Amino acid sequence: MLEKKHKGRHLKEWYAKNRRELPWRGSKDPYRVWLSEVILQQTRIDQGLDYYHSFIREFPDVEKLAQASEQKVLKLWEGLGYYSRARNLHKASKVVLEQYNAVFPTSSEELSKLPGIGPYTAAAIASICFDEKVLAVDGNIIRVVSRLFGIWGQRGQRSFTDKIESEALNLYFDPPGDLNQALMDFGSMVCTPKNPDCPRCPFREDCYSLEHNLIDQLPEKREKKASRKRYLYYLVRETEDVFTIQQRGDGDIWAKLFEFPHVERDEPKSTREVLEEIGFQGEEMLEETGFIKHTLSHQEIFANFVILKPSSFHFDKIGFSETRGDYSRKDMIDLPFPRLITNFLEERYSLYGRSK
Ligand code: ADE
Repeated sequence: MLEKKHKGRHLKEWYAKNRRELPWRGSKDPYRVWLSEVILQQTRIDQGLDYYHSFIREFPDVEKLAQASEQKVLKLWEGLGYYSRARNLHKASKVVLEQYNAVFPTSSEELSKLPGIGPYTAAAIASICFDEKVLAVDGNIIRVVSRLFGIWGQRGQRSFTDKIESEALNLYFDPPGDLNQALMDFGSMVCTPKNPDCPRCPFREDCYSLEHNLIDQLPEKREKKASRKRYLYYLVRETEDVFTIQQRGDGDIWAKLFEFPHVERDEPKSTREVLEEIGFQGEEMLEETGFIKHTLSHQEIFANFVILKPSSFHFDKIGFSETRGDYSRKDMIDLPFPRLITNFLEERYSLYGRSK
C-alpha cells in the first residue's frame, strides 16, 4: 500500500493538470460558491453554468437576491427541478442580509443553520471559502474514496460517512477546499460510475477496489425507493392569445409554479372516461398529446395535454382555484412553469423561442 502521503500527492498532481476552470473557483466568494453548489446539486456542470451566469447577471450579490421577488427566483430556476431549493436559496439570502448584515457566516456549523444549507453545502462553502477542514460528502467523493480505500456501507449511515471523511481528510492534501474539489473533479472525470478510466488512473497501482476486482461493487448501491405514479390530464383552453392557467399551492411537487387546470388520477384511464367524469363530452376534445412521461426523484408523472374547444371550457367538476385566470402569451413569459409545461408550450406554440 502506498502511504497516504503518496496518494495525496498523486491527487494533487492530477488536479494541477486536469482541474476544471470554473467561474467561481479562485474567488472564494461564499455567495458565488453557495450558488454554484446549490445549482450543481440539480444538474451537470455544462448546463449548470448557464444557470449560474443568469443568476449572477440578475443577482450579482446576496443583497440583490434577497431583494428579488420569489417569482423571479423561481423563473430563473425554471427547468432545474426541485423548486424548494430555489425557495430556500431566496429565504437564506434574506437571512444573510437581515441577520448577518449581508456577510456569510464562516463555519460549516453556522452555515448549516441557513435554510436549505445541509451538511454537503455547508462543508463545500466552509472548506472552499474559509479553509475549514471538512469533507463535502457528495456522490463523487463517496465513489472515489470508497473505491480507493475499500469502504463498505450505505450513504446516509453515519459510520460510513465518518470513515469516508476521515480517510479523505487524512490524505496529505491542503487546502481542504482544493481537496474536496479535486476529489469531485476526479470522480466525474476519471473514477466515473460506469467504465472508470482505471488504466490511466494515477492510483492504478494502489486502489483497493481495482486490486480486488471490486470496482463494480463499490460504492454499495442504494436501495431504490418505489416510485409513485401519477397521471395528470391537463385541460388546455387554446385561443388566439390567452391561456387559462393557475398556480400550484404548497406542500406538493412544483409548489407555486404555474400550470393548466387539471385532474389527477392514480391509474391511467381513457381520456374520454376522465373527461366525462368532469362533465365534458368527448367531442369537446380537439386533440391530445397522449401521456408524456416526466421523471422526478420519487415520482413518475404521466401528463396528457388535452386541448379542448374554447367554447366548451368550464370547470364545473374540477374545483375552484382562486389563482386561476386568463393570461396572454406575453404575460406568461415571465411566469415560472415546470419543465414539463414549458416543453409543451415551446413545442406546440414556440412560446419562448428556445427550449431548455
Ligand atoms: N460538483 C459540485 N460542486 C463542485 C465543485 N465545486 N467542483 C467540481 N464539481 C462539483
